[in-house]
Amino acid sequence: RFYVVLMAGGRGERFWPLSRRRLPKHLVPIWNGRSLLQRAVERVEPLVPRERILVITTADQAPKVRTQLKDLPRSNLIVEPVGRDTCAAVTLSAAIVSARCPDATMAMLPADHIIHDTDRFRQVLRDALLLAARQPVIVTLGIPPTEPATGYGYIRVGEPWQNGTENLPGRTRFHKADAFVEKPPPERALEFLQTGRYRWNAGMFVWGVHTLLEGLREHQPRIHAAAIRWAETARARPGRLRVLLTREYPELPRISIDYALMEKARNVVVADATFDWDDVGSWTALARHLPADEHGNVWKAGCIAIDASNNFVYDDRPASRRTPVALVGVRDMVLVLARDAVLLVHKDQAQKVRDLVRTLEQHP
Ligand code: GDD
Ligand code: MG
Repeated sequence: RFYVVLMAGGRGERFWPLSRRRLPKHLVPIWNGRSLLQRAVERVEPLVPRERILVITTADQAPKVRTQLKDLPRSNLIVEPVGRDTCAAVTLSAAIVSARCPDATMAMLPADHIIHDTDRFRQVLRDALLLAARQPVIVTLGIPPTEPATGYGYIRVGEPWQNGTENLPGRTRFHKADAFVEKPPPERALEFLQTGRYRWNAGMFVWGVHTLLEGLREHQPRIHAAAIRWAETARARPGRLRVLLTREYPELPRISIDYALMEKARNVVVADATFDWDDVGSWTALARHLPADEHGNVWKAGCIAIDASNNFVYDDRPASRRTPVALVGVRDMVLVLARDAVLLVHKDQAQKVRDLVRTLEQHP
């Protein structure tokens, strides 16, 4: 049985000032009026029936997620009392899937990516599910890197992974993953890019529930113990799970699955992800998906520009509050106008908006 769980509880710090107040990146309707989360669900529906698509989010985002995903069975929304990063989200999801179907094979997918070639995406995902159903491996989807980005995990590609189907036409190719390095510093990212032996981790993981639990048992024993308790409770006394989580969840370490498991596991296999992929991790990345004028500027009508090129202006103010916006002699800038805040950042530095949000939290 194949299950898909979409992780939709991140805080989307990189889209400040838009993503404040409970509207993180995956819920912002930035893609033709649909949110990245809605698109993510639509993307997997042809592969897995809706009853086996789950979404995990945090209590504060749950009402918005419900509104956006009206067709999702209510019991398929897993609500975390608080966000504890992806290791906790993965663990709880696996516990719940395992209570429904102990032999399940599941894909954990982020809810905040843009993928245009959805057919190819589903083929790769299906092949990864088939592999993880047969072998005790963790399958990750690896993207050929194009720049020394520091916001991704890097996977070193090893020997081809023989699974007997690689010669079938259209089948995805797999390799053993020799190493997994989460968010390396710039020098290492550049080195990885230059060797040509690394892939970006797409943040999409496929595993048999048993395989995942085994990995947690070995590398995160405390979290594994929680997984077993939750699965048992979900199976035997589902009504009690919420009580248990309210008590235990806030105590979990805040750590991502990349650090907690992927860097440590030795049974990782990487699939050639041969589809286009963008994790739209910044304003700069988003601008690349929107139509630009002849000077490379992306903005709605109404901006005045002289000698300005390659800028991105995002005006999120209500129509009644809009004032004229003019740019003169600037290039490669991102200007975001929200109701109660303004962001001006160079396109090269858009990753640092995350740091800005942390600074603001400390010194509001
Ligand atoms: N439910 C829930 N709870 N979801 C969460 C939480 C949480 O506490 N924290 C994050 N998520 C969701 C995010 O909404 C997103 O869909 C996904 O999990 C990944 O989290 P990010 O915070 O966006 O991770 P990242 O982008 O920094 O890094 C991951 O993704 C990269 C590719 O986009 C890593 O897996 C990297 O290795 C990878 O390259
Ligand atoms: Mg991300």
